[in-house]
Formats: sequence, structure tokens, C-alpha cells
Amino acid sequence: MDKKFFDKLCWCGSGKKYKDCHLNIDTKLEEMARKGHIVPSPDMCKNSTEIEGIRKSGVITKGILDMVGEKIKAGVSTEEINTWVYDYTVEHGGIPATLNYMGYPKSVCVSINDVVCHGIPDDKTILKDGDIVNVDVTTILNGYFADSSRMYIIGETDEAGADLVKTAEECLYKGIEEVKPFKTLGDVGYVIEKYAKEKGYSVVEEYGGHGIGIRFHEDPFVAHCGQRGRDMVLAPGMVFTIEPMINEGKKEVQTLDDGWTVLTYDGKRSAQFEHTIVVTEDGYKILT
Ligand code: MF3
Ligand code: CO
Ligand code: CO
Repeated sequence: MDKKFFDKLCWCGSGKKYKDCHLNIDTKLEEMARKGHIVPSPDMCKNSTEIEGIRKSGVITKGILDMVGEKIKAGVSTEEINTWVYDYTVEHGGIPATLNYMGYPKSVCVSINDVVCHGIPDDKTILKDGDIVNVDVTTILNGYFADSSRMYIIGETDEAGADLVKTAEECLYKGIEEVKPFKTLGDVGYVIEKYAKEKGYSVVEEYGGHGIGIRFHEDPFVAHCGQRGRDMVLAPGMVFTIEPMINEGKKEVQTLDDGWTVLTYDGKRSAQFEHTIVVTEDGYKILT
């Protein structure tokens, strides 16, 4: 490489010289690759302009989930939630990423009780007391994507339902806390699966988190199970989601004939929380 390149400002936008910034990271990744690790490709690491764009998109995504939390209640249809999300997104200058995404017809996914994910809003599905509901929102703002979901308990649910919801959120945050440069996606998946199993639940394997930012679903695939030190190494600038789906019963799922709605195979309930995360120099930052 041209020796002068080392003295130029790093491509990542840190304001440091390459030799004091990503040269060190690249050297460390090369060393880990030589030892047999899977390392991220350069395009998986976003620069500071891109990360700032995703962060701003994440502010809207978070705002939507906060707004939904204030309005969601028994008697509301999932179609109404879709309207709330569409209107809020457009009023804030964004585009709902799911609308027309690979043929998906709505601006949000609403997944109730035994629906694991990708529930399609409609005016005949009415929320009732005791339901546990996932609302999953992805926003595009100025071309940048941010993806997040939360569970809402309608009125009061039984103790088992409340514990399932609490555990799914704990799984997400345990996974997030593993995120640090040169740790691996295997560390993230490992802690999630371990905790869910300790609590007597199972983890859905067919769906996972994903790289995100410039497109909706980018590499890498983020499994919610795994082994410490395995799978892809993490590096600063990587942006991805963690979104564990935790089942009350067995891990198996099935898809309805609509091609989208994913249900548990055994009919028991499922819960999920999701954030978009960026790997920082010394850990992580939640962008949603
Ligand atoms: N938001 C979902 C995710 O977390 C993806 C929904 S895609 C859709 O990755 F088409 F079903 F909306
Ligand atoms: Co996602
Ligand atoms: Co999502």
C-alpha cells in the first residue's frame, strides 16, 4: 500500500490518521482471520456519516414505538396500529420500510400471542385483554434504515405471559451487552440461548438479526444461539439488529398460506424485542 495512505485521515470519519485508527483494527482482523475466525468484509463497517444517518432514522423508529405504547389498548384493530405508524413516519419525513418490501403489504408487523413475527395488520384482528403483542417498525430516513420492536401487554396477562415478555427483553439486553470489538456473534447468540433455556423457554432458529443501514437486511445473519468465540468477529462500525424470538413451548415455527405470518408450531406464545446496534470503539451504542 502507498505509504502516504497511512498518514491520511481514516475513511471511517473518526478524524484520526488511518495508521492511528483502522490500520490497527485491520491488522487485528487479519491476524484473527489467519487463526481461522470469520471476519467482517470492509463494506460491513459503516462510516460516521452513515452511522449518523441510521441514528436519526432510529430516533423516528423509537418515537413510533413510544407513540404506540401510549395508544395501544383492548378494542384497537391491528389495522389502526398500521395507520398510526404510517402517519407518524410520513409526518416525520420517513418511509415505512416494510411497505411493499418483497410484497409485504403494510407499514408495520403486529404479532399477537402465538404469532412469532411478520403478522400482517388487518381490520378484523382486534386486540383483547391479556394479549401479548409485538409491534415491529422499520423506518427509512434519507435512505438510512433503522429497525426495532417491542412487546406490549394489553391490560393484564397471566404470570406466564408476563414472564415470557420479560425474559425476551432480558435476552435482547444480555445479547447487546456482549457487543464489543473482537468479540463474536457467537458470544451474542450464546448468552441469549443460555438464558432463555435456563428459564425453560426455547429460541427460534429460522429467523435472526441482520446487518442493516443502507439496506433493510444486510449481512451478517445474527443468530440468537451459538457458541462463545465462534461465528463472525465484531468490528467498530458494524451496524446490525439483535431480535431474539423466545417461545413459551417448542422452538419450531410454521408459516401461514399468506406467505408471511409465522406462528409457533405448538400454538404456545412467543415474544420478541429488537434494537439496531452499532459497534463502537469500546463496546456498542443502541441506535433505536
Ligand atoms: N422488521 C422485521 C425484521 O426485524 C422484518 C419485517 S419484513 C416484513 O427484520 F416484510 F415482514 F415486513
Ligand atoms: Co430486524
Ligand atoms: Co424488525
